[in-house]
Order: sequence, then structure tokens, then C-alpha cells
Amino acid sequence: MMRKVSGSKRGASRQNSLAVVRRRLTRRSFLKLGGAGLAGAALLGVPGCSGGGGGNGNGEFTFAMGQDTTGALPGLVERFNQQYEGQYVCNYREMPTDTGQYFDQLRTEFQAGGGDIDVIGGDVIWPAQFAAFGFLVDLSDRFPESERGSFLPGPVDSNIYEGAIYGLPWYTDAGLLYYRQDLLEQSGFSEPPQTWEELKEQAQKVVQDSGTENGFVFQGADYEGGVVNALEYVYSHGGRVLDENDPNTVVVDSPEAAAGLQTERSMIEDGVSPQSVATYTETECEPIFLRGESVFLRAWPQTYSIAGNPQDSVIEQAQVGVAPLPAGPGGQSVSGLGGWNLFINAASDPEAQEAGYEFIRFLTSSEQQRAYAQEGSRLPTLQELYEEQEVLDAVPVIELAGEQTLQNAEPRPVSPFYSDMSLRMGEQFNASLNGELSPEEALQTLQEELEQIIEQGQNTVA
Ligand code: GLC
Repeated sequence: MMRKVSGSKRGASRQNSLAVVRRRLTRRSFLKLGGAGLAGAALLGVPGCSGGGGGNGNGEFTFAMGQDTTGALPGLVERFNQQYEGQYVCNYREMPTDTGQYFDQLRTEFQAGGGDIDVIGGDVIWPAQFAAFGFLVDLSDRFPESERGSFLPGPVDSNIYEGAIYGLPWYTDAGLLYYRQDLLEQSGFSEPPQTWEELKEQAQKVVQDSGTENGFVFQGADYEGGVVNALEYVYSHGGRVLDENDPNTVVVDSPEAAAGLQTERSMIEDGVSPQSVATYTETECEPIFLRGESVFLRAWPQTYSIAGNPQDSVIEQAQVGVAPLPAGPGGQSVSGLGGWNLFINAASDPEAQEAGYEFIRFLTSSEQQRAYAQEGSRLPTLQELYEEQEVLDAVPVIELAGEQTLQNAEPRPVSPFYSDMSLRMGEQFNASLNGELSPEEALQTLQEELEQIIEQGQNTVA
């Protein structure tokens, strides 16, 4: 069993975090961290001796979040500042949009003593790791179970580590299949593909009939998005990364996972996707589809809002269909769970933490989640908003993809060593996709690498 960094009891006093962080990271675990030589977990380091935080005691605090490609976030921050004028001031610090780069930047700040950040807008894959190393305030008392039921369960769970909750769900993401409805119809397809095999058949026919450059583009590069994409193939073919009952047992080297990676690779082998798909992130894929140069696209929900926007899109929204991702041979369609939560930096000044928590409440309120859905097409995490026509009209993907698809998305492995695991998954999945290694070879190597990360990591935090 994975153990926490120290055995200190959770309680209200833990929210006065600096002292808590020092207590949780005992000298022994500090030394182990420093000497372990384990890439990510060791590099996470420990908060330094001075309290970070952007607060100056005047209700001022700093909120970190990746640049918002929808452009709506600065408006939300401004609204907060107006509403709480004279009480709180939120300074929005723009971080890298790429989740891996953002994570690295935070890690560096934590190492350097906590950084200036008070509220962290963070990826759903981060809580286990940051919580295990004591970087986040335990919000269990402030966000009790009685309040969690009004949020979608997947995003809530993504904030829980060893029974405590470290964040509030802000907006959710799920992998979706976008398709050119007009071109499919012209080629005689009245429905989008149900399986990956059907996707290839349809793509080949439509490309032939319409002369569209690409059949299917998706995020295959060696980075976090490439990991989510590959896992959608692995999961939809019945494979897993970690044993569901024992998160310390790696089970990725399986025939099912290999079949999943083989299907992903076959997109290139069968000429449906270009070889360069193995270098694509969201930034490359989305414009290709919006320029009308691909029949299919795998993307997150907010892409739909950009389709038809004359600055970014040659195609009209009416030409675009949205569907659940195709299923594997066993009939399973699996969307990777994405999304963003709101955390408080444990090394931040307690007053700034209080102000920051008000901001978290503000952003997660139904009013502001509704606004973010309307202004930025972000999918709410509050269940009640899925009943509102206003929200359904503002974010048509909810009905197009089906609420079930969005709400049943599958998380990536939950582990305090996730960032290291992800680096290795990114490399091996990419090597299989670009044809450098066979799926079996990639998975065999990955199995060994993940086992090693978990073993070394356990020694580090034990
Ligand atoms: C989106 C998702 C996030 C994921 C990232 C990968 O931002 O919300 O969870 O890690 O894409 O690129």
C-alpha cells in the first residue's frame, strides 16, 4: 500500500499549511527525496523555508492557470474583482497552456519555496502527486461530502487522494469524435462510425470521394495529450495500465493493450492518418480540421465552439458532427477524462488562502460555471447545469455527444508518481504509433519502466 509522506493527522489545523507541509515532509523523507535519483518524484522537491503566496494581507492573491484558448477566463476574473471590490483582489497569472509545461513550472516554483501562487487551476491528473508531496491544502472540511454530490462524480474523484479531498472540480473534458457531417452524407454514410474499423472504412471512402487531404487527425505526439489518446485505444480494447484493485500493480503489458495500440498505429499504416499525426498536439490538429483538411478529428469539447468562427475556421458549424469515440472490438467506447480543478497552494499565506478559497467558490458556483459554459464552451461540473436549456443551447456538444459520454469518461491512472509514469507512457505510446517499436515491444518496455517507477517511488515516500 502506498503511504503518505508522513503520518500526520488530517484536521482543521492542516489548513494553516506551511507548518503542516514541514511536518508532513519529515527530514527522512526529505533526504530520501533528494537522494532517490527518481526523476519526477525526487524533482518535486520540498517547499522551502519561506511562505510563498502572492497575498499581502489585503485580500490580494494570485491565481495560476494556463492560457485560456477560449479567451473567456480574464472576464471571469474581472467579474470577481468587481464583485469583491475593496475586499479581494485576484491577480491572474497566465501559465503555459500545455499541461506538462505548466506542471514543470509549478514544480520548479514549489521547489523554490512555494512560489507566488495561491490558487492553482490544475489538471485532473495532478492531485494525487501534489497531495502526496504535501503541496496542496486539504479541503475536506471546507468541501464536505454533503456538498460533493451536486458535482459530477468523475471530476470529484479526481481530487481525492487517500480519503482526503484537495480540490474543487471546475470544468470537465472528455475525448470526442468530430466529423464532417456534410462529407459523410455525400459519401452515403448517414451515421458516424461506431467502431475504429468503421472509422477507417468511412475515412478512406470519404477521402476518395471528396479529395479531402486527411482521413483522421488526433493527438499522437509524445506529451500528455498523446497519453490520453493512446489510452482511449488501450481502454476501448479492454486493456488497463494499473490493476483496478491494486494501483501498485502494473498490468499494461497485455494482449488487449497491444491490440489497442495496434489499432492506433493502423490509422497510419492504412493511410487514414498522416505519419505526422505522431507529432500532433491539439494546436496542430484543430486547425487542420477547421480548415477543412480532415474528415475526422479527435478533440476536447470546446473545439466545437470554434468551428464556424470566421477567424479560426473555414468550415461552418453546420458541417460538423460530434459523436462518442468509436468502440473497440469488444464494443467499448471510451473517452479519456480530462478537465481542470481548483487547488490551494499549501505554502501560501493563510490570508491569501482564505481569499483564494472565496475565489474557488466563486468560480465553481452555478452562476460562474454557467457563464463559463456560455462564454467559453467549458463543460460544467455541477450536475444541475446539465438540466438547463440555456446551458444546453450554449454548449451543443452536450447533447450532440450525449451526456453519458461526457459523464462516464475514464480517468488516467491515479498515482502519486503520475508525472513520471506519463513521461514513460508518452515515449512508448509514441514509439509504437510512429512505428519505431511494435506495440508489444513498447508495452514490454513500459511495463518494466512503470514497475520501476512505482517501486522506487514507494521507497521515496515510505
Ligand atoms: C485537456 C484536458 C487535460 C489533459 C490535456 C492534454 O486540457 O482537460 O486533462 O491533460 O488536455 O493535452
